[in-house]
Amino acid sequence: MADHVMASLNTDELLAIRDEEVLQPDRRLIDFKYFNIRPWIVENIKRALRLGLHQHRGRRILDIGTGFGYFPYICEFMEHQSAALDIPDHRLYDRVIDALKINRTHHKVNPFEPLPAPERPYDYVTAYQLAFNRPGTDEHWGAAEWAFFVEDVLNNQLKDGGRLHMELNWSFPINAWYDKETRKLFDKHQATRTGNEVDIVKR
Ligand SMILES: C[S@@+](CC[C@H](N)C(=O)[O-])C[C@H]1O[C@@H](n2cnc3c(N)ncnc32)[C@H](O)[C@@H]1O
Repeated sequence: MADHVMASLNTDELLAIRDEEVLQPDRRLIDFKYFNIRPWIVENIKRALRLGLHQHRGRRILDIGTGFGYFPYICEFMEHQSAALDIPDHRLYDRVIDALKINRTHHKVNPFEPLPAPERPYDYVTAYQLAFNRPGTDEHWGAAEWAFFVEDVLNNQLKDGGRLHMELNWSFPINAWYDKETRKLFDKHQATRTGNEVDIVKR
């Protein structure tokens, strides 16, 4: 499948963006790892398989903090309908998102603010390698912030039976991310927690 996805991509266009952007003075070097395209395509195929997306067609998926948009790209490749959100004012992401023709809206997730209302509810809301709660910054997400976010997704974004699936950023240990109260909140929602992943089904 990775061969087929790679063949569908205009890698020359992506690498031209990389070469132009690497010269920009405000470049964010960390993002350039995503131009190592094939391993990230493989990673995103694995994400889709773990969600069971190969077993269906036409599911509606919202990907929060999509970055280059590789996950929605794979979803579309697998004949699903994807939408994505990410913060504004990131020129590199914007250029790659345009090149990949990802249906992405600029939106920063803020504590105690609902996500934009969807046209129709989603089957899946995903967030991969997202870092709302970076230790050492003043943006601290505790149980109250997580409760608002999870309940907004369950009540306003997902269909019955839909899933919120989050993969926490590898850079930080999971216990620094979720304090005891937040883990209790996830337990209340009968979340499945595997490694850095949290999966909550709307019941
Ligand atoms: C480490 S990157 C992961 C990108 C992509 N999900 C992946 O796994 O390849 C984290 C992403 O989260 C986005 N992000 C961080 N804080 C956010 C917020 N408050 N609201 C929306 N997106 C956010 C960043 O702009 C970036 O695209």
